[in-house]
Formats: sequence, C-alpha cells, structure tokens
Amino acid sequence: MRRRPGRDARRRHRRESDPHDRGRRDRRHDDRRAHHRRDDRRDGRRGHRPRATGTATARATSTATRAAAPAGAPAAAASPVGRVGGNLVIYSARKEELMKPLVEAFERQTGVKVTLKSGGAGELAQLIERERGNTLGDVLFTTDAASAEALRQKGLLEPYVSPNAAKIPAEFKAADGAWTGTIGRSRNIMYNTNLAKPEELPKSVYELTDPKYRGKVAMASIREGSVKLWLASMIQERGEDFTVKYINDLKANGLKVLANHTEVANAVSRGEVTYGLVNHYYYVPAKREGQPVGLIYPDQGPNEGGTLVVPLAVSILKGAKNQAQARAFVDFALSQEGQLPLTTQENEFPLTPGVGLGEAAAPGVKPIDEIKRPTTDYAKLADIEKRVVDLFTPILGGGQ
Ligand SMILES: [Fe+2]
Repeated sequence: MRRRPGRDARRRHRRESDPHDRGRRDRRHDDRRAHHRRDDRRDGRRGHRPRATGTATARATSTATRAAAPAGAPAAAASPVGRVGGNLVIYSARKEELMKPLVEAFERQTGVKVTLKSGGAGELAQLIERERGNTLGDVLFTTDAASAEALRQKGLLEPYVSPNAAKIPAEFKAADGAWTGTIGRSRNIMYNTNLAKPEELPKSVYELTDPKYRGKVAMASIREGSVKLWLASMIQERGEDFTVKYINDLKANGLKVLANHTEVANAVSRGEVTYGLVNHYYYVPAKREGQPVGLIYPDQGPNEGGTLVVPLAVSILKGAKNQAQARAFVDFALSQEGQLPLTTQENEFPLTPGVGLGEAAAPGVKPIDEIKRPTTDYAKLADIEKRVVDLFTPILGGGQ
C-alpha cells in the first residue's frame, strides 16, 4: 500500500523541475517527498512561502520579489556584503522556489535586483555554452559541481576567490575560484528502527553485501544524480572493478532497486526494507513526522574512507556584465546569511564549518565538520560519471 504520511506532505507533493537535474527531460524526479517538506518549528527566518510554479520540464524566468525581512536573521558573516545596487541575472539549476529565500535576502541586503532563470543543470550548461562570448547570465548556481567543473575546463567560468570561501573545505571548490560549494548533501544509510537490531546496524556501506542483510536493503536507480555521483566517487576511491563487484554483490544479496530516493525513503519508513541508501535530506522529513527511522553516517572509522558529500556550487560566468553584483552574490551565498536561507526547504547543510545545520537540524543529522568524507576530485569525477552510466544502467536501471 502506498501511503503518504500526511496531508500537508501530499499538498506539497508537487511536480517541479529536478533540483539536481542532469538535463534529462524524461526523468521522473525523486524529490517529491523531501524537497517539498517544510518544518514549521522554526519560523524565525521565514518570510513568505512562495508557491511552486514549474513542471518537470518547465523553466521559469521571473524577477524575484522583495519580501519583508524575516525576524531573527543570523549574525553577520566574517565578510559582510554591503549595498551594491544594479542588476544581476542568475542561472539556477535549483528550483526557483528554493532559491527565493537566498535571492530575497541578497536583494534586501545589497539593493541588487535579481532576475532568476531556472532550469536543469544540463540545460543551463548547454545554454552557457551557446552563449559563449555573449552571456546573458552573470551567475550560475548549480546542484551539480561536476557540471560546473566541466564548464570551468571549457573556460566558461570566471575565476573568483571570494573571501568567504576561505573556510569552505578544498574538495568543495575549484582551486582557481571558478566554482565554490555553498551547501551540501551527504550520502547516508537510513534504517527502520523497528526492524534493525541495534547490534546489527552497519557501520559501512560495504557491509551490506553480508548475508545478514539479505533482502533488507534498497537503493535508488542510476537515474538519480546523486547515485551517479556516489558511484563515480567510489570508482575514484576504490577503482572500477571494486565498484562493479560491490554493486553486483549487493544485487546478489537481494538489493531492491527502486525508481528514486523518495521510494527508498518510503520503503524504509513503511518497513518494506530495513535499510535504504539515500541522501540525508530524505531522512529529515521522515524523522520529523515521527516515522520509525534512524540515520547512519557510513564509513566514518579511522581506517574508512568517509561518506560522500555533494556540494551545490556558485560561479560567475565568463564575460558576465554585472561583475560587481556577481561577486557580491558569490560572497553572500558563501556567507552565513546566504547559506542559512538555502537550508530552509531542502534541509541541505552549510559547507562552512561552524555555521551549523540551519534548517537541516534534526536528531541524527551532523554538520559538515563532523562528517568524514572521501577526497573527491571533481576535476576527474565528471569524466568518471559518464562511464558510470554505461557501467551501471544494466544493473541499476530498474525501479520504474
Ligand atoms: Fe534529491
């Protein structure tokens, strides 16, 4: 039986563009559940609640409106952004609704009038290539650091090392400042607390091939962008042969491949499986709803490689006409005042150590400085990712 846990959740279960879209129009997105939840406990930083506007393939161009300043804004960042004025065009691979809290805070603080153009990460990358030499955009905000890295390598991004990037860990930014991560999502194991025996909780994703987990594990299909990145990162860490064998061993151990992460999280909440490989933000709303779920940060031991954290990145486009405004936006998106509004709807967390979790805070969720991570090299990951699709579509293409 498919059961949605609450009326509000259903109401918010709207069809929208994929926040980590890879430019594939035909793909159903997973994020209907987690991406449209909001927790009402913390109202301090919330202004209004924009309604969804798009469809799975739609892009919206709009001028962000100015909202009243929310109460309880966080303290000033190390390098505050002042009044700038003028205009700024942002190409955003993140849904317009999800960008608005950041954009509105930026507009209030700087007086810059922002135009947002939203689309899939792949579509925007193509647009930026088409506009080479005459870009109509100033800034790219992308859910896909690998595609930002590909644009950097093609000379389509303007290097800018923001003073506010200093504390962002090195793996979440291009060394030349062409792109910088601002918030992130981690790969986790979510489990059903009624079914998992405490002594059997896995500490590593690699334990899940053990017979004691037979038939108890689900993951999402290769169509999920973060599944692709996760496998690419595993190949970077451990090699292709290892990664292929691992996934085949999981399958041989009864792995269920579901269409998307929402299905995986639902299967765990309902007790259809005991363990699910997901991003942390699928756990957060289930936990807040009182579902019997727990969260594991895998591979955190001293001899283990850590778990992947995927950054959402901000860049200035080569030839951007509004340079001062673009730099101010990058500075702002990397500041505490910029990162915290970005956490309000998706429950992703700031990548600056010490800023905390913002709205991602829920029992069991860790801030960036408490997560051991692999040494991901995005300069190489983009190429590996193409190989991942060929390798794993036959194994992990299911779940429709
Ligand atoms: Fe997602």
